[in-house]
Amino acid sequence: DHPIGVAVLGMGTVGTEVVRVLRENAADLRARVGAPVVLRGVAVRNLATDRGIPAELLTTDAAALVNRDDVDIVVEVIGGIEPARALIKSALNAGKSVVTANKALLADYTGELAAAAERHRADLYFEAAVAGAIPVVRPLIQSLSGDRVNRVVGIVNGTTNFILSAMDETGADYSQTLAEATRLGYAEADPTADVEGYDAAAKAAILASLAFHTRVTAADVYREGISKISAEDLETASAVDCTVKLLAICERVPAGAGEPGPEAGGKERISVRVYPALVPRRHPLAAVNGAFNAVVVEAEYAGRLMFYGQGAGGAPTASAVLGDLVMAARNKFFGGRAPGESVYAELPIAPIGDTPTRYHV
Ligand code: NDP
Ligand code: HSE
Repeated sequence: DHPIGVAVLGMGTVGTEVVRVLRENAADLRARVGAPVVLRGVAVRNLATDRGIPAELLTTDAAALVNRDDVDIVVEVIGGIEPARALIKSALNAGKSVVTANKALLADYTGELAAAAERHRADLYFEAAVAGAIPVVRPLIQSLSGDRVNRVVGIVNGTTNFILSAMDETGADYSQTLAEATRLGYAEADPTADVEGYDAAAKAAILASLAFHTRVTAADVYREGISKISAEDLETASAVDCTVKLLAICERVPAGAGEPGPEAGGKERISVRVYPALVPRRHPLAAVNGAFNAVVVEAEYAGRLMFYGQGAGGAPTASAVLGDLVMAARNKFFGGRAPGESVYAELPIAPIGDTPTRYHV
């Protein structure tokens, strides 16, 4: 039972929940991994903040924490480019696996980070970086890897969806609703990233890279935010039985005019864009409200798939981070295998007479 040492970098909205789940759910995590998962330390900026965990776990020296011999896996939830990028590289270069929720970093540096991971046979996992709790990264990387994805369309920013839904449903004020999204932990440290579409563009770049097995960065994404959307725009949309959603659209498009088509060896291209769009009320994406996200994937053989769930917030994001942590721990110590039968709890089956007669949806 070699304990698996974890360092958490950052203890804000997401880090706080990651630490809480690591501690609260330790017995389940141990069973799912096959060994105890032990929190070795948490890096923060400000030591004076009361965080409800033993002071000896806290440090401002993230680099030293990453390099501790008893740290096997590093969870990066600081955000931004530096020092996150240097810390992740240092962990990967030391052969430690990394789990990150940092879409801003991944959108532009996945190539560099993935190369370090490959060189040192470490894992780099980032399910939480796109659409919070929703499993969409792993389905694209694994479940759909035998298919051909043609299109990915989604609502991938919780803050802007929270604002647009409130404006649509109750005519709520834009700035008050943004302040509420910040209070609830949905918005980025600088909410301009949300409302101007940078966050959605970073996620679109990640989705397009995974869906089309190519390298798309944030600079390749056409981007418009929602800061210019007014109450009148939503009323106009409503009059034609539509609503407004900030969509991320990633798709294959044919070769340009005057260029040879695929039948003549011409290359198709990738188009990636983020903008507020009119969505008919009958479309499933129109029913995605609040901080929920949804991603529709159209694949050649699978057809249309839809992924839906909480796209922002501490606990939903922590769920995705912990899932990655379990996978990284299994890979590192157990050849990717799940623990065998012995770890299954023996839960008795309730007789049908003891169960509620109706399922309430
Ligand atoms: P916060 O701003 O709430 O937290 C950031 C944390 O990082 C704070 O604890 C801060 O310390 C710490 N920190 C900042 N700089 C340093 C440093 N140099 N060394 C050590 N610690 C540092 O961010 P979130 O938790 O909201 O987001 C974290 C990441 O997760 C970002 O990449 C974000 O994009 C991503 N994400 C966020 C989601 C959300 O719903 N909030 C959802 C999905 C992904 P201190 O507390 O002392 O200030
Ligand atoms: N600020 C982001 C959002 C957090 O609102 O969607 C989740 O990535």
